Amino acid sequence: MAKAYDVVVIGSGPGGYVCAVKAAQLGLTVAVIEKRTTFGGTCLNIGCIPSKALLHASEVFAEAGHKFDALGVEIAAPKLNLEKMMAHKDATVKSNVDGVQFLFKKNKIDTFNGTGKVIGAGKAAVTGEDGKETEIEAKNIVIATGSDVAGIPGVDVAFDETVIVSSTGAIALPKVPEHLVVVGGGVIGLELGSVWARLGAKVTVVEFLDTILGGMDGEVAKQFQRMLAKQGMTFKLGAKVTGVAKDKKGAKVIFEPVKGGAAETLEADVVLVATGRKPYTEGLGLEKAGVVLDERGRVEINSHFQTSIPGIYALGDVVRGPMLAHKAEDEGVALAEILAGQAGHVNYDVIPGVVYTSPEVASVGKTEEELKKAGVAYKVGKFPFSANGRARAMLATDGFAKVLADAESDRVLGVHIVGFGAGELIHEAAVLMEFGGSSEDLGRTCHAHPTMSETVKEAALATFGKPIHI
Ligand code: NAI
Repeated sequence: MAKAYDVVVIGSGPGGYVCAVKAAQLGLTVAVIEKRTTFGGTCLNIGCIPSKALLHASEVFAEAGHKFDALGVEIAAPKLNLEKMMAHKDATVKSNVDGVQFLFKKNKIDTFNGTGKVIGAGKAAVTGEDGKETEIEAKNIVIATGSDVAGIPGVDVAFDETVIVSSTGAIALPKVPEHLVVVGGGVIGLELGSVWARLGAKVTVVEFLDTILGGMDGEVAKQFQRMLAKQGMTFKLGAKVTGVAKDKKGAKVIFEPVKGGAAETLEADVVLVATGRKPYTEGLGLEKAGVVLDERGRVEINSHFQTSIPGIYALGDVVRGPMLAHKAEDEGVALAEILAGQAGHVNYDVIPGVVYTSPEVASVGKTEEELKKAGVAYKVGKFPFSANGRARAMLATDGFAKVLADAESDRVLGVHIVGFGAGELIHEAAVLMEFGGSSEDLGRTCHAHPTMSETVKEAALATFGKPIHI
């Protein structure tokens, strides 16, 4: 039996490691159980971080080929060294996962390498590679096991991570596919689809809904689809994939129109299946321990992250809410504070969402569709990047910012941006919304000139008056 801890966290992704670090900072004794040999979970090892390395590198490659010339930078056509690009991705992952290890050491957090399991209140266990099980006593157990690839409901998908790949294989392809078929026009499909499109693949996205990025602001999604189409990506919308199978040349993707009609087949040399993720609860011993799951297989928690068993908590992708690293991180901080006797809280109404494509898409708060459905009277202010001086200087004039404010109180209810740097710009809206700010507060806040941020300011101005530059 190992020593008794105040907190043992199962899983070291953004939810788990942040919870562990914050708990240690607040004076609690902490241990983390991780089955991978490196820390950081899906996000750092095979998700957010490596994909961003490839997104950036492929964007630079595409810009060197298409944009430099217009800026007066004449170079020979860029040559792709995929091996080197992948090495950059691997080095990025290494520095990040090593960073988490450093944080654990710095905060005197003990680590156990192996598969964690809940035995009951006050007791967890870890099974190492040698099959040996060690019990760990802890006043509080935190389940932060994240999520796994969901596959396509009702379709047998045999992932080999070479020809039929999930995001894991799609960030490690040894060569640029000639034709990449992406099943699912959500965040993963569009981010990784655009990586390979920029590197020269023909990319076809097959999406069940009649829009990409379902759930995002409809106007933003539509304009964004046009931009991606201009970059060479092809879309089959309202198309339900019913079969994915390997064949001699590569793979076949069979889909049928949702509204009825004949099935079609696409030939691909690589198929990326990006149709969502599911909470990861396998092998955790939850049923035996009496931890209740909800109807979607997520660990059920109350507003204090406590499961059906006192002393056992859960957070991140394994519980309700958006599967986003930053949502998990904030839950990690809040739970650590609660365990340390403080008042931890997450404001789920102000969680930004970013799609790291080129240009980026970002949003926070309600979409127009949501406001309409809820019967909320609202005002809309929009401003295009094409009327922004900095955007013109940078040849980044595609896109717009949109501010939605309550018709009566003027409180900002949602901000949606598609355009250069949207993923950074969105945070001034998030801060404003955390403080219950109005569109007039945003529009009257002095913004440095010339910056892309002025598009957000002018969109805010447009909700209650006239923007200056259109
Ligand atoms: P997603 O839920 O974003 O998109 C999946 C898409 O697949 C949906 O549009 C759905 O309609 C479609 N689909 C489902 N079944 C289909 C079928 N049979 N045929 C055709 N289309 C079908 O899931 P995704 O992209 O796999 O991402 C998983 C999770 O990871 C999401 O929760 C996402 O938010 C998160 N993530 C977030 C990132 C970010 O914030 N930048 C980056 C990557 C992932």
